[in-house]
Amino acid sequence: MLSGKRVLLIIGGGIAAYKSLSLIRLLRGQGCAVTPVLTQAGAQFVTPLSVSALAGQKVHSALFDLTDESEMGHIELSRSADLIVVAPATADLMAKMATGRAEDLASTLLLATDTPVLLAPAMNVRMWEHPATQRNLAVLRGDGIRFVGPDEGEMACGEYGAGRMAEPEAILAAIRAMLVQGPLAGQHIIVTSGPTQEPIDPVRYISNRSSGAQGAAIAAALRDLGASVTFVTGPAAVPAPDGVRVVAVETAQEMLAAVEAALPASAAVFAAAVADWRVLNAASSKVKKDGTGQAPALQFVENPDILATICRGDARPKLVVGFAAETDDVLGHARAKRLRKGCDWIVANDVSPHTGIMGGVENSVTVISAEGEETWPRMAKDAVAAKLAARIAQALHD
Ligand code: CTP
Repeated sequence: MLSGKRVLLIIGGGIAAYKSLSLIRLLRGQGCAVTPVLTQAGAQFVTPLSVSALAGQKVHSALFDLTDESEMGHIELSRSADLIVVAPATADLMAKMATGRAEDLASTLLLATDTPVLLAPAMNVRMWEHPATQRNLAVLRGDGIRFVGPDEGEMACGEYGAGRMAEPEAILAAIRAMLVQGPLAGQHIIVTSGPTQEPIDPVRYISNRSSGAQGAAIAAALRDLGASVTFVTGPAAVPAPDGVRVVAVETAQEMLAAVEAALPASAAVFAAAVADWRVLNAASSKVKKDGTGQAPALQFVENPDILATICRGDARPKLVVGFAAETDDVLGHARAKRLRKGCDWIVANDVSPHTGIMGGVENSVTVISAEGEETWPRMAKDAVAAKLAARIAQALHD
């Protein structure tokens, strides 16, 4: 939660300004007060009324507003928050900041402030890659300004590349990382979660019953301790938590690529129920009955073991936690799995149907490490997550 925190949100002029409205909702949902500042260009994309309605506060836009000057001057405004967020941060705003210009309310606030500043750049890929912008970026980084994004992808202007504003959830995660001084502040942790889906053809797939509940709870618990979390999730029944960077994938191969792309990290928790096999002869068009009554023969190939691959890799996080979902000889299999895969801890759970754990709200786990084994009483998945997150925080500090 961000209760009691105050963010000054400067909305620059760019098509991504509409995403700032979602950001305001996410922040307020976390109990954070949002004081909005809308640049003249920003007001071309979102209206002052929608911004103020969502923020529940007046929008500041003009530098010389007599009411404001008597109530709260721009210097005071710039210092009244715990964090200034600029989203979208345009090439022009970045240039103004890098050269110390104060010619409108936004640039003046940014020059006058002594609070931390987070920028979410958004611009056309050529503008982002332009040496002038890259120079400004380096200058601003040197000044201690923090950045989230930009992402790579399809742009509103039809081009493809880096320059898309980070998604509101990712901006929220970056804000949390800067404002929440929990024991995991400043630590990046990757969590995999949910099932994977392995296609048979464009309309059918092979998957499993994982709901993603335990993984989502772990990501939320790590976030609550201040970690910046990358949540790599298969198609889960449970929604991804707020305030984490969500990378949605379908297959095991996509999940491995997403985890590798998210490295480096201080820790990684592999809670996903990854399909062990994928269909080698997956069809590119829907498989039809051929009238003979004969079922199509599926050939399988083993999927990459994401946990084992990361444990063996060069960028192995300091702490790697795996799960062992078993239906018989739970501890025996789990111990062997920890050694085979090379992770530090393995969280063993019995997923036999009678336990009601898979898809349920409770879990009963044994945490196995080189130091020993600890069985926790059956408790809500949220409680397991909170306990595990606290252990992770402790281990990363040791
Ligand atoms: N895992 C993974 N990639 C895979 C398979 C599993 O990252 N391709 C991870 C899971 O996220 C979990 C751990 O490995 O943290 C154990 O998963 P589990 O399904 O219990 O084990 P399997 O590797 O499938 O082993 P087995 O077939 O012996 O049950």
